[in-house]
Amino acid sequence: MDRVTVSLGERSYRILIGNGLVDRAGDHLAGFTRNGRLLVVSDETVWSTLGARLQTGLGDIEAVPVIVPAGEDSKSWAGLRFVVDSLLSAGVERSDHVVAFGGGMVGDLAGFAAAIVNRGCRFIQVPTTLLAQVDSSVGGKTAINVAAGKNLVGAFHQPSLVLIDPLLLGTLDDRQLRAGYAEIVKYGLIEDRPFFEWLEEQGGAVLAGEPAARTKGITIAVNGKARIVEEDERETSGRRALLNLGHTFGHALEAETGYSDRLLHGEAVALGCVLAFDFSVERDVCAAEDAARVRRHFVASGLPATLSELGLAGIGDRLAAHMVHDKKREGGRTTFILARSIGQAVMDKAIELADVARFLERAR
Ligand code: GLY
Repeated sequence: MDRVTVSLGERSYRILIGNGLVDRAGDHLAGFTRNGRLLVVSDETVWSTLGARLQTGLGDIEAVPVIVPAGEDSKSWAGLRFVVDSLLSAGVERSDHVVAFGGGMVGDLAGFAAAIVNRGCRFIQVPTTLLAQVDSSVGGKTAINVAAGKNLVGAFHQPSLVLIDPLLLGTLDDRQLRAGYAEIVKYGLIEDRPFFEWLEEQGGAVLAGEPAARTKGITIAVNGKARIVEEDERETSGRRALLNLGHTFGHALEAETGYSDRLLHGEAVALGCVLAFDFSVERDVCAAEDAARVRRHFVASGLPATLSELGLAGIGDRLAAHMVHDKKREGGRTTFILARSIGQAVMDKAIELADVARFLERAR
């Protein structure tokens, strides 16, 4: 088992990573129970495929399930109200630890419910998708989507523990797995070139589920995120903003495709990273060979790496218009994360959207 600590003073917590951890969940969660029970928020799909496994792993601990429909629609005011009311009906107290058992939607929803119920109780993340294991379960960002946009209502609320069991990914379909893999690659691109080079060699093994390679990939990614969160928990210094590499382009692509199955979040991040590198080359801050290498790796990993393959070429103005709604805008400007090289991402607040639109108009 690997252990990563996120050091945030009194909000510090551990991330445990290991194959089969959920089958021994009781050993790791016993210290977080009250009256021998834990409230578990999950969705219908996860609970029907993996709920029995969690319950068996919990042993004598009673799991009190709060189950929402699968899908992003549950990450809403209505979903939040249902979860909060259910937790209150179940007698939640401030000293309780709510377990978020699912992908990013469940983690964000349960984490936000935990942040506000009784003015805040504790929570534990047990992520069941690769994307949630390497990104959303770590760092304490919790939120719901509202009419004005995604993730616009939420709180920074750090979990008390993150339990990552790569074996849970066995039920995940290949496309979801590859989408989560894009977020792993992102950490190499941001500040860990040797990790990117390792992924060029071992990415296939990570995707194929070779146990040692997959666990190593997850652990290095999680460790990278933990270090960044420690330095900039609330995304105020610019350090945590580096985690948005590929996301400003990616969110525009997701908005254009209606946040639908046409383009999963991780797929948008992959293509978004390619575009961020290509744009960095255009602005003369990055070598063309690095951008080509990034594209090659995403193609080799079965991820989208061109606008044309998604039918999104030649609509630069429309894509740039979506960026006007990016929630990371400051003083009327959109912040971009560009790259000097593989392993050296940089923040740039001085980019004109018109330049981005022209770049996207030409990009294929
Ligand atoms: N997913 C980006 C962050 O946690 O800051």
